[in-house]
Amino acid sequence: MTAHDYQAIEESRSLNLPAFLRLLTEKFKNVSFSTSLGMEDQVITHHIFTNKLPIKVFTLDTWRMFEETYQVLRQTEERYGKTIEIFYPDKTAVERLEKEKGEHSFYESVENRKECCFIRKVEPLKRALKGSDIWITGLRAGQSANRKKLDISEYDNDNQVIKVHPIIDWTWENLKAEVAKHNIPYNSLHDKGFVSIGCAPCTRAIRPGEDFRAGRWWWEESSKKECGLHHE
Ligand code: ADX
Ligand code: SF4
Repeated sequence: MTAHDYQAIEESRSLNLPAFLRLLTEKFKNVSFSTSLGMEDQVITHHIFTNKLPIKVFTLDTWRMFEETYQVLRQTEERYGKTIEIFYPDKTAVERLEKEKGEHSFYESVENRKECCFIRKVEPLKRALKGSDIWITGLRAGQSANRKKLDISEYDNDNQVIKVHPIIDWTWENLKAEVAKHNIPYNSLHDKGFVSIGCAPCTRAIRPGEDFRAGRWWWEESSKKECGLHHE
């Protein structure tokens, strides 16, 4: 990745979403998109699939997802006639963790929680991104104070890949309008007060006035609420 590439991405941010995604596929060889199947990612998936863009779409199944998340995964595959590649945790590592520390060790300390996130998400992500030049995410500046500082692209040292956030400037209202406009399938939990959706035991709905990510790892009042996929 040269300074010129970063500049090309930066200069293209005013393109509409499908045109921006297409440009990435024209400029780079192996482009991957990670979807958590939340509202942000469903909008990106819609444009990748309807425009038949050569982008690998994958999800990390932590084996702790909500039933509603599995439902939207199936609905999405049916609607677009495409497959979302699924990456799973290392079974032996999960078994070892649960045998040693129990099935809910993540509630006991931030360290334990990050250990579980590492096994179920961070390590599988590394496998999923192998060989990718570009990693597209659904991160938005409006999701948290830390994410406000993000640029549209950055270099991810952990996975040695260029991370691109094509909807960095979108608002929650923009997303809802896009979903309605194209009748994009979405996780039904969004209608029940859930905004940012992760694993079932670690996600709750938010109350009016709460921060967007208040429902994630809600018992960790003081820690920076990240799982290791992202540092912001
Ligand atoms: S997290 O780090 O707190 O879990 P968040 O839920 O905000 O992340 O999602 C931000 C982006 O990370 C998503 O748009 C998606 O690109 C990626 N992501 C998060 N969870 C997953 C997952 N289970 N599978 C694939 N990608 C994910
Ligand atoms: Fe484990 Fe919770 Fe992290 Fe999911 S969000 S990987 S269940 S600690």
